[in-house]
Amino acid sequence: MFKKKFLAGVLGTAMVASMLTGCGAASDTASNDTADTEATTAAATEATEEEADASASDTADDSADDTASAGGKKVGIAMPTKSLERWNRDGSYLEEQFKNKGYEVSLTYSDNKIDQQVKDIESLIADDVDLLVIAAIDGESLTQVLSDAKEEGIPVISYDRLIMNTDAVSYYVSFDNYTVGKLQGEFVRDQLDLDNAEGPFNIEFTAGDPADNNAGFFFNGAYDALKSYIDEGKLVVPSGQTEFDQVATKAWDTATAMTRFQNILGSNYSDGTQLDVALCSNDSTALGVTQAIESDYAGTNSVIITGQDGDEANLANIVDGKQTMTVYKAVANEAVVTLDVGIALLNGETPDAALIDGSGWDFECAYDTTSYDNGTGIIPSYLLVPTVVTKDNIQKELVDTGYYTMDDDGYPHPTN
Ligand code: BGC
Repeated sequence: MFKKKFLAGVLGTAMVASMLTGCGAASDTASNDTADTEATTAAATEATEEEADASASDTADDSADDTASAGGKKVGIAMPTKSLERWNRDGSYLEEQFKNKGYEVSLTYSDNKIDQQVKDIESLIADDVDLLVIAAIDGESLTQVLSDAKEEGIPVISYDRLIMNTDAVSYYVSFDNYTVGKLQGEFVRDQLDLDNAEGPFNIEFTAGDPADNNAGFFFNGAYDALKSYIDEGKLVVPSGQTEFDQVATKAWDTATAMTRFQNILGSNYSDGTQLDVALCSNDSTALGVTQAIESDYAGTNSVIITGQDGDEANLANIVDGKQTMTVYKAVANEAVVTLDVGIALLNGETPDAALIDGSGWDFECAYDTTSYDNGTGIIPSYLLVPTVVTKDNIQKELVDTGYYTMDDDGYPHPTN
């Protein structure tokens, strides 16, 4: 495992410029997600308008070399859905990055429907793309379509979520998913001062979609960080739901998480039992759990609620004291890594740790060749580093870095 951190502080000027010029074009080119278009964030829509002006000058700034090597090549980007906020940002950043380097880009969203994503990828292959960047809806369902991609000699970057059971995946670009969960668990440990406090404290877990390979990593990271306290009885899980399968949330759906949590509250807390912690793997589930606590929890204590992503509604809840933390993953940087790995693949190279050394990235990234086995062997991975965000550091981590603006309403809004 190799690591490199560059000195340049928060973000390089180029990165800030590229982020601030907006990357909201997902809705322009995505054709397959009509059902969840509504859920596209207002911020993304606004940015689309800004981008019309900004992108021309971005493209003009690109060196002649970059665009020459792009040589009419096409990149197919398959995102899962617009209904989960982050994928709007991912799609926009990825599209913008590749376009700015002179590549043609087709971006699809598949409305969280597995068959639709398979069809979308088939179309991208039929359209002769030279590279596929895919965030899978179901990590297990792309084996056939990706064997077609392999036959056509199209390299595949598994984006954020590992695609399982296919040897067609060339590289995996993501964050250190286990660490995301570990940060959530350690946050709870520190908030409750578990090494010193007597307890016992009550905790409930909510995890993600079993079809998403990341979900188990997040849950295990969190659970492992808290396991010794659960074993010694300092942390108690009144529902008894401690297995991933019991706490998983299909499609990471907010309403599903809310209903499950209302049931948990009804069955285990209606007698006045105090809930201290709701450990949620991400923000879409945390939103549902927060709603359940608001509607169905009789206690008056403020429950520690974790999340992940920095979704707009969750950041508002953090400002309002309704959610305690989120683990932020700078998807703008994830797109930058994907771009550089993608360009190397398009140029027929085999990137490795040296890509990081020569990249000039001003953020931390590890090249990992041990952690992610997709069932056909280890997939070489570029893993970025997540950050804990609370009310106290929103300004420093999210606003000063240029990812969000703090508007007059007192809440952070994404800049792309
Ligand atoms: C991503 C998370 C996200 C979740 C639901 C996961 O694969 O890594 O950032 O919260 O999907 O969209």
